[in-house]
Amino acid sequence: MQMNDSIERVLITEEEIQTAVRRMADDISRDYEGKNLVLLGILKGSVVFMGDLMKRLSIPVQIDFMKVSSYGSGTTSKGLVDIILDIRRKDLGNCDILIIEDIIDSGKTLSYLAKYLKEKGARSVRTCTMLDKPSRREVEFQPDYSGFEIPDEFVIGYGLDYDEKFRALPFVGILKREIYEK
Ligand code: PRP
Repeated sequence: MQMNDSIERVLITEEEIQTAVRRMADDISRDYEGKNLVLLGILKGSVVFMGDLMKRLSIPVQIDFMKVSSYGSGTTSKGLVDIILDIRRKDLGNCDILIIEDIIDSGKTLSYLAKYLKEKGARSVRTCTMLDKPSRREVEFQPDYSGFEIPDEFVIGYGLDYDEKFRALPFVGILKREIYEK
């Protein structure tokens, strides 16, 4: 199957993404001047965005990663997030953590992680996402840096997958309904 057969349309072009990356990198470089910036990528979706973003920063930066999986939504869920790969640093008290995400949906992952890292002793914790779907929020959460607010469509590319495919696309596309409804 051709990749283009799966995509309904391009929602955000590569050029639009790169413009947003530069804007966010400029903002972050200004805000974190003189701090100890650690970009914390949440695997796997964040890797494409984080790779682009770190190259555009004009200040020193370290990177780290966590991997989490959220339990399903719904009233029976305790809203917990399962930590599959934790951050292990002895110097968290000197770290200004900026959590990097590809997308915020319900808000559960980022609100949990921001609280978790503060409790673990990070000096500061802020959040940065390429995409934000505010219409899907289940918990109140506002990212500090955000690329695009998008409608509630099934998006793929630029880190985002369907069935582990499409993550490497340099743009954000909308997946054809027939692909995920078949
Ligand atoms: C996605 C995304 C965020 C989370 C956002 O990850 O990368 O981590 O879901 O959803 P929320 O706001 O409802 O918590 P996913 O679980 O699909 O894993 P992946 O990054 O490995 O694809």
